[in-house]
Amino acid sequence: MIETQDFEIIRKSETSISEIDFANLPFGRVFSDHMLIAQYSKGSWSRPTIKPYGDINISPAMSAIHYGQSIFEGLKAFKSDNGETLVFRPDMNWERMNNSAQRLCMPKIPKEYFIDGIKQLVSLDQAWVPEDPSCSLYIRPFMFATDPFLGVKPSETYTFMIITSPVGPYYAKPLHLKVETEYTRAAMGGVGFAKAAGNYGSAMLPAKLAQDKGIDQLIWTDAKEHKYIEEAGTMNMMVVIDGKLLTAPLTSTILPGVTRDSFLTLAREAGYPVEERKVSVAELIDAQENGTLEEVFGVGTAATIAQVEKLTFQDNTYNLAPISTREISVKIGQLLLDIKKGNVNDSRGWNMTV
Ligand code: COI
Repeated sequence: MIETQDFEIIRKSETSISEIDFANLPFGRVFSDHMLIAQYSKGSWSRPTIKPYGDINISPAMSAIHYGQSIFEGLKAFKSDNGETLVFRPDMNWERMNNSAQRLCMPKIPKEYFIDGIKQLVSLDQAWVPEDPSCSLYIRPFMFATDPFLGVKPSETYTFMIITSPVGPYYAKPLHLKVETEYTRAAMGGVGFAKAAGNYGSAMLPAKLAQDKGIDQLIWTDAKEHKYIEEAGTMNMMVVIDGKLLTAPLTSTILPGVTRDSFLTLAREAGYPVEERKVSVAELIDAQENGTLEEVFGVGTAATIAQVEKLTFQDNTYNLAPISTREISVKIGQLLLDIKKGNVNDSRGWNMTV
């Protein structure tokens, strides 16, 4: 545990909170008053500083820009009805960030920097945590390589930062997804399991091509055969076929989502049959055609539970089961939100109170 005095804290002289329209929060466009920053060099991290949110100076030769040593995390803080600020499962994000760091040949972040850093930062900007149940404070930790050097090798210096942003829902309405069979998000042995910035950049063209045709996002399929479903846009993907909750198993191509893990845990505890196994596109389409495809949805921190209402595969578009008939995604989604908001007993100790 880092004590408060171990952080250098430079307070903003005047808060910008009055400029924010909390009744109309977009995703990720407004930022709270403060941010955290720490530098890594000569094998160790500097004392973390919390200071007013603002631009940073970087070298045009900074290696993250050129060669992509850049990783991030996403988690959320919620306001409970009794006014407490709760951060959902920060330890899982810390562990995942260090797994991403290892894959990208970057240094590990000490637990105190990540967990206590979030605690200190969110505590300072508690007024920015929205109260509306559909909103939250999105917390974005990230790390990037800072050597001003054009040689291709792991950087020797890095910056770790945390910024926070009060957010509304990521998707405003149920989604129309297309099964992608040309482009690939991740291949075995690659970086699909890591939260590497480049994973998101390389997904933009295929997503944009679909969006130009009125489709919201893609269902990513395996790189080898494009036969099995992997993720949906920036989310893990789940389907319910004939009462069974199915999702792709964790391999090197699948992001180990915190919402994925939480959802599966709660669904199992509620007694629903859950299978983490390969699900083929053919199985999905067959189920839709024979009336057993009951639910299709994405799960992620930013998106929470995103219902899918339409599915395009090759030249066919299917209207999926009405959202009003969906049981598992709605019930477990609500339970998950209730836990995050402190409305029900957090028996698993998932929330960190700030
Ligand atoms: C998250 O759910 O935190 C994500 O990573 C999605 C983000 C890229 C907006």
